[in-house]
Amino acid sequence: MAYIKRMIIVALLMLTQATLLKAEDGQALWLRGNSNIKVTVSGPGHSPVVDLAIAELKRGWHGKPDMVLNLRISDNPAIKGDGFQLEESAISARTELGLLYGAYELLRSQYLGSPARRFVSNPSYSRRILNHWDNLDGSIERGYAGRSIFWGEKENGLSITEQDKEKWTAYARANASIGINGSVLNNVNASAKILSKPYLEKVRAIAERLRPYGIKTYLSVNFSSPVLIGKLKKADPLDPQVQQWWKDKVKEIYALIPDFGGFLVKANSEGQPGPQDYGRTHVDGANMMADALEPFGGIVMWRAFVYNPSPEDRTKQAYKEFLPLDGAFRKNVILQVKNGPLDFQPREPFSPLFGGMTKTPVMPEFQITQEYLGGSKQLVFLSTLWEECLNNDTFKNGKGSTVAACTDGSLSKTDFTAIAGVANIGNDVNWTGHTFAQANWYAFGRLAWNNKLESKVIAAEWIKQTFLDSKEKKTDAKFAKTVQGIMMESREAAVDYMMPLGLHHIFAEGHHYGPAPWFSNDKIRADWTSVYYHKADEQGIGFDRTRNGSDAVDQYHEPLSSKLNSLSTCPEIYLLWFHHVPWSYRLKSGNDLWTELCLRYDRGVNKVRSFQKDWDRMDGAIDKERFQEVQSKLRTQSRDAQIWKDACLLYFQQFSKREIPFDIERPV
Ligand code: GCU
Repeated sequence: MAYIKRMIIVALLMLTQATLLKAEDGQALWLRGNSNIKVTVSGPGHSPVVDLAIAELKRGWHGKPDMVLNLRISDNPAIKGDGFQLEESAISARTELGLLYGAYELLRSQYLGSPARRFVSNPSYSRRILNHWDNLDGSIERGYAGRSIFWGEKENGLSITEQDKEKWTAYARANASIGINGSVLNNVNASAKILSKPYLEKVRAIAERLRPYGIKTYLSVNFSSPVLIGKLKKADPLDPQVQQWWKDKVKEIYALIPDFGGFLVKANSEGQPGPQDYGRTHVDGANMMADALEPFGGIVMWRAFVYNPSPEDRTKQAYKEFLPLDGAFRKNVILQVKNGPLDFQPREPFSPLFGGMTKTPVMPEFQITQEYLGGSKQLVFLSTLWEECLNNDTFKNGKGSTVAACTDGSLSKTDFTAIAGVANIGNDVNWTGHTFAQANWYAFGRLAWNNKLESKVIAAEWIKQTFLDSKEKKTDAKFAKTVQGIMMESREAAVDYMMPLGLHHIFAEGHHYGPAPWFSNDKIRADWTSVYYHKADEQGIGFDRTRNGSDAVDQYHEPLSSKLNSLSTCPEIYLLWFHHVPWSYRLKSGNDLWTELCLRYDRGVNKVRSFQKDWDRMDGAIDKERFQEVQSKLRTQSRDAQIWKDACLLYFQQFSKREIPFDIERPV
C-alpha cells in the first residue's frame, strides 16, 4: 500500500514537473541562458533600469568567472541615442537604457560564443515599436496565438491579476532584450473606448510594467472619439471645440502616463472615420492631434494604408493621396507605410512612398503576424522579406537610396525615425502559436535595432538561443545548421507555392489562408476579389501597371521606373505584378510562362516536403514537445502547399489551355 502511495506521489510530482517544464519551455522564448557563473557588476548608482541591467548580467553571465564588470554613463560621441559601447570589462552608454541594451548584447554574444571585442552599437531607428491589433474584448485581428495579453472579457476587460502583471513584465523583458522600445496596445481599427477613463487606468497599469524595460506605451485612436465618447456632434479637425477635446484628452493621458508615446491613426481607410468625412485632409487631421501631443513630447503615427473603391489601381492610391501633402505635416507627425503598396503579400515591390516623400518622415510598417503567410500553421521566416524591402534601392537621391536609408535618418539627417511591426503575440503558452513564429518577433526587433543585419545571422542567433540545451548550455550544431537552412529558404518556398512570379492577393476571402484565385463577386468591391489582381485570360496573366496600363511604374524614380516598365528588364520576381504577360512568353529559364508557373508551384511544394524530411532527421536533437509540434505543423504546411498548387494550376489552366508538364507531380 505504502509503495503504491509512494508511486502515486512520484507520478504526481513528475506530472507537475512536466507541466512546469512545458510552461517554462514555451514562455522562455530566446531567453534561456540562466547561469551560475559569478560576476561582479558595478553601476552608476541605482535606478530601476540600471538595477535591471545588473540583475540580467548576474543571471545570465557566461563569460569569465569572477569578472568585475563596470557599467558607466559616458558622453563618447560615437555612441548615439540609446546605443552603447562594449569592452572586455565595461559597458558604456549615454543613457541608462543604453546600459540595459548593452547588457543584453553582451549576454547574447556570450551564448553565441562570439569573442568579446570592443565595439559600438547604435540603433538604426530611434522608435522601434510593436503594433498590437488587439481588440478590447480580447480578440486579436489577424492574431493566431490566442487572445490578447492586454485586454479581455474579465469584468469588462478591466480587471488586472498578478498573472497579467507578470505576463506584461515577461513581455517587456523579451522586447527589451531585442531592443524594442514601444508598444501600441490596441488595434488600428480602434474602439473609441480606449480613451475613456477606466481603460486609460488600465493603460497606466500596463505602462508601469513596461517602463522599467524602456518600453513606451502608445495607443491607436478612433478619429471620431470626440463624438463617440465625448459629447460633441462632430469630429471636424478644424472645429475649435474638437481641437480642445483632443487637447484635454491628451492632458488627461499624460497625467496618468507621463512618458506616453503618442497616437497611431488609421483614418479614412477601410471604413474608419477620418478628416475626409468633413471635407478636410489627412494633414488637418494629423496636425490637430500633433498640436495636442506636442507640448508633452508625443508623436502621431499616421498610417498611409488608404484605398477606396475607384477605377484607379489600388496600389497607386496611397501615393497619389499623400504625395501632394508632403511638407505640410507638423514636425511630430510621421507617416507609417506598409512595406509594399498593397497589403503584406508574400512578395510585393516596396511602396513608392518611401522614395516619394521628401519632407515628411516615413516609417516602415512590417507585419510580424502571418496574415498572408500561413498564420501560425506555417513555418515562414519573415526576416528575408524585410531584409529584401530594406535593401531595395528607391533611387530617391540617386543610387544607394535604399528603403533603409530613406527611413533611418541617414538620407535626410534626422533623429525622428521609427519602424513598426504588427505583433504576432497572444496568450498561447509559447506566445506566438508556432514556435518558429517567435523567430519573426525576434527578427523584427533585431532589424529595428540594426537594419543592416543579415537574416542568416539573425536566424543563427535565434536558433542557438531558443534551442539551447539547459543542461549542456549549447545547441546541437547539426540541428542549428539544418534549421537555419530551412528558415532561410522558407519565405521563398511560400512565394513559390502561393504566388510566384509576382502574383498577388489571390487568397480566399476573409481568412487569407488558402487559395481562391477564382474569387469574384459583383456584390462587393472589385478590389476585394482575386480576379482583380491576376487578370488571367486566354492571352495571358498579370496586372498591367506599365505606362500602357495603370502606370504605377511611374510612381518610382528613374532608372527603376523604366526598368520595371519594360517586360525584358522587369525582375521576374515582380513580373506579373507589373505586366500582363502572354502564356507563351519565354522567361530567362527558356521556359514559356505557363511551364515556368507550373514549375514554380511544384518547386514550392517540394521545398516544404524537403523541410519535413530535414526536420524528421532532427528527432532527438531538441525536446520532444517542440520537435513534435513543428513536425506536425510541417505536415499541415506540406498538405496546404499542395492545395495551393493544385487549386491555382487547375484554375489558371482554364485560361492557358496548356498541358501541365509531365515531369511535375500532377494535381490530385
Ligand atoms: C489588412 C487586414 C485588416 C487590417 C488592415 C490594416 O487589410 O486584412 O485586418 O485592418 O490590413 O492594416 O489596417
